[in-house]
Amino acid sequence: MSKDKKLLRSLRGEVQEVPPVWMMRQAGRYLPEYRATRAKAGDFLKLCYTPDLAAEVTLQPIRRYGFDAAILFADILLVPQALGAELWFAQGEGPRLSTIQAPEDLAALKPASAIHETLAPVYETLRILTRELPEETALIGFAGAPWTVATYMIAGRGTPAQEPAHALREGNPALFDALIARITEATIEYLSAQIEAGAEVIKLFDSWAGSLKGEAFDTYAVEPARVITQALKARHPGIPVIGFPRGAGEKYVGFARTTGVDCVALDQSVDADWAAAHVQIDGCVQGNLAPEHMVTGGQALVEETRRIARAFSKGPHIFNLGHGITPDADPENVQLMVDTLRQGARG
Ligand code: CP3
Repeated sequence: MSKDKKLLRSLRGEVQEVPPVWMMRQAGRYLPEYRATRAKAGDFLKLCYTPDLAAEVTLQPIRRYGFDAAILFADILLVPQALGAELWFAQGEGPRLSTIQAPEDLAALKPASAIHETLAPVYETLRILTRELPEETALIGFAGAPWTVATYMIAGRGTPAQEPAHALREGNPALFDALIARITEATIEYLSAQIEAGAEVIKLFDSWAGSLKGEAFDTYAVEPARVITQALKARHPGIPVIGFPRGAGEKYVGFARTTGVDCVALDQSVDADWAAAHVQIDGCVQGNLAPEHMVTGGQALVEETRRIARAFSKGPHIFNLGHGITPDADPENVQLMVDTLRQGARG
């Protein structure tokens, strides 16, 4: 049956009258039921590591909107934590981690093979979801791409232009490359275990790929995505992979060809007609409605939803936002987007 899931059909290259739809951060603070479950868990990391509750918040947006895909509830920063970095979420300030600045910091990390001890609850969440999801809903597993994960591990926090990571990349390339290699290896282990636990699609989030320019983009965004995709497909033949080199701009062109991903997720900065002509020619694309429309709603949301669906209507497409939905979004606007799309946005 799983062969007939709408999301998997687009990933195989099928052009559908109404595209499958889901949203990045679809389980999140804009939903009152998410806030209630998070309060019950106590804090965000507890929620990630409590399989029953993580499965519950994964299912909430599926119940509400009937999305074509559920994305595992977890976080890209669980991998650094499983490698031995300290991780905490400062209230209202985002993530904080112990930093990697010197060879001793890297030497103190655990080997990639040791991550499963910490990450076992995540695999349990996936096993619960394989039993509880509606049969038409595809289950997406994910990880951060090595560059994006490295930016947090080096700086110990989110940074506007990833300066500390660029400084290490230029100042100590041997250390930087060894860190990328460790994350790459851990990511392959982690995603492979997610697939074994029931993930049917893998998404690789390279949220900060846009700050890599020229050759650095090829070395640290394209190459790790290629290595991870090839390894996963060798171990799990046919597993579809979605790549998200956010902010790649013109570097979106050819990304699927050079990495082997089955689908490229587009942020909202690229024009849909341009992307249809230059990126979708290589296969499936995902995106790219600006998340702000989920806050503002109204006729502009309806028109943008239709325009994007129409622009991508000649090739395989997964409807999504260009980045995660924000906490100030109105759940009613999400319903309006889904209704607009399913009522024949292309008509
Ligand atoms: O999409 C989903 O619904 C699945 C779960 C998911 C989360 N984070 C839950 C989360 C996924 C796929 C992520 C990915 C993630 N995490 C990325 C890549 C995608 C992107 O947004 O660019 C990154 C960079 C992170 C790291 C991270 N996690 C940051 C910077 C923050 C703080 C910023 C924020 O939005 O609060 C988080 C926390 C986080 N991850 C929340 C959620 C629902 C909010 C935490 C809360 O409930 O308080």
